[in-house]
Amino acid sequence: MDNFIYSIPTTAYFGKGQIKVLGETIKTYGGSKVLLAYGGGSIKKNGIYDAVIEQLDKADLARVELSGIQPNPRIESVEEGIDLFRRNGCDFILAVGGGSTLDACKAIAAGVEFDGPATDLFVNESGLSPIYDAAPLATILTMAGTGSEMDMGAVITVGEDHKKKVVMHPLLNPRFSILDPEYTFSVPEYHSMAGAADILCHLMEQYFTNDVAAKVQDRMNEGVMKVVLEDAVKILANPQDYDARANIMWASSMALAGFQFLLGKPSPTFPLHGMGHELSSMYDMTHGVTLALLTPAWMRHTISAAPEHLPIFARFARNVFDIREEDDAKAAEQGVARLVEFYAAIKMPANLRDAGVREEDLAVIAGKAVENGKLGILASLGKDEVLQILRAAFTG
Ligand code: NZQ
Ligand code: ZN
Repeated sequence: MDNFIYSIPTTAYFGKGQIKVLGETIKTYGGSKVLLAYGGGSIKKNGIYDAVIEQLDKADLARVELSGIQPNPRIESVEEGIDLFRRNGCDFILAVGGGSTLDACKAIAAGVEFDGPATDLFVNESGLSPIYDAAPLATILTMAGTGSEMDMGAVITVGEDHKKKVVMHPLLNPRFSILDPEYTFSVPEYHSMAGAADILCHLMEQYFTNDVAAKVQDRMNEGVMKVVLEDAVKILANPQDYDARANIMWASSMALAGFQFLLGKPSPTFPLHGMGHELSSMYDMTHGVTLALLTPAWMRHTISAAPEHLPIFARFARNVFDIREEDDAKAAEQGVARLVEFYAAIKMPANLRDAGVREEDLAVIAGKAVENGKLGILASLGKDEVLQILRAAFTG
């Protein structure tokens, strides 16, 4: 196992009614005038907005609002937020929503202390954004999936070709996140299940790396994967199942908290995310759905291109899906088949064609996915390999 540093500077206030800490906790971080940011208005329909305002008023906190942050958030929302924050003399940012709102707010937190255009905030060769300070940020999560509530990254869509780019720095970890599972009761089925697919993919992208005997990380990871498989379908049956919503919400946070399941492993390239972001760029497709569409094809490609890593896929099948098969190749394929069944059970589209992807776009998507270099760690993916995966995922 490689050396590592583990630090999660975000405090989680988890459970029913935790919103009660909001005002006083903002004050402990020096907040007096809050930039309150949210998405397209779901928080006004489900009562979360009113609950937030009540707490801010009770603590005598002034506020300025930024609304309308879209899924796959755009740089224009970030620029608007930076401008609002500066013009109104805000000193704290509160993001209320899913990953899109949280991500836009992280980029705003970086941008308000940055002397340059917001487009210069994207990660550079060091893998981090070029910042030395950031405004304090807290989040109230309303949809489980991305892990943005406990991590230091943000994904922002930019330019006419809707390229998804990353803002990332430890200074952007939220100071605290309020995680009330009841706030996710109103998330539509499609987005709830896309969120579950996203969580599962974050876990898998940290699992399928070179095997370096990071046993604590991998056994914990397998446990969280099992929870996602079990509890996502419970939400499908009953969207107000508190414990299922709670487990999925905590799985979302744990999956990317400090990249804890990657510790001691070689740096990954998150190949499924690299390919998936290109589908979102071209079709504005929901993030988690892109990952469900690509994962089985990526797994089968990797097993055949890098058979030396077959034991990892066999272990995944045995430990996550309880497959009792001694032959590694058969076990690995049964694991992929069970994953396909899971995606069908949570109503993900069966293949890229059903999801509306055009066959003639596949080569362009493959080219864009490797624009900044090859993807993959177990099997290296250049344009040809990505295209093979996309073609396999096209028919499912
Ligand atoms: O905008 P509103 O009206 O709030 O509606 C949203 C949106 O339409 C709705 N929603 C959220 N909470 C709700 C609700 N509807 C009813 N009741 C609630 N309680 O759900 C829809 C999707 O929201 P969004 O925030 O876009 O979803 P998600 O959390 O999946 O975020 C996706 C974004 O996160 C990025 C993705 O690339 C994508 O841009 N990611 C961020 C990561 C990170 N920061 O670490 C990692 C991820 O891999 C991912 O790339
Ligand atoms: Zn993701």
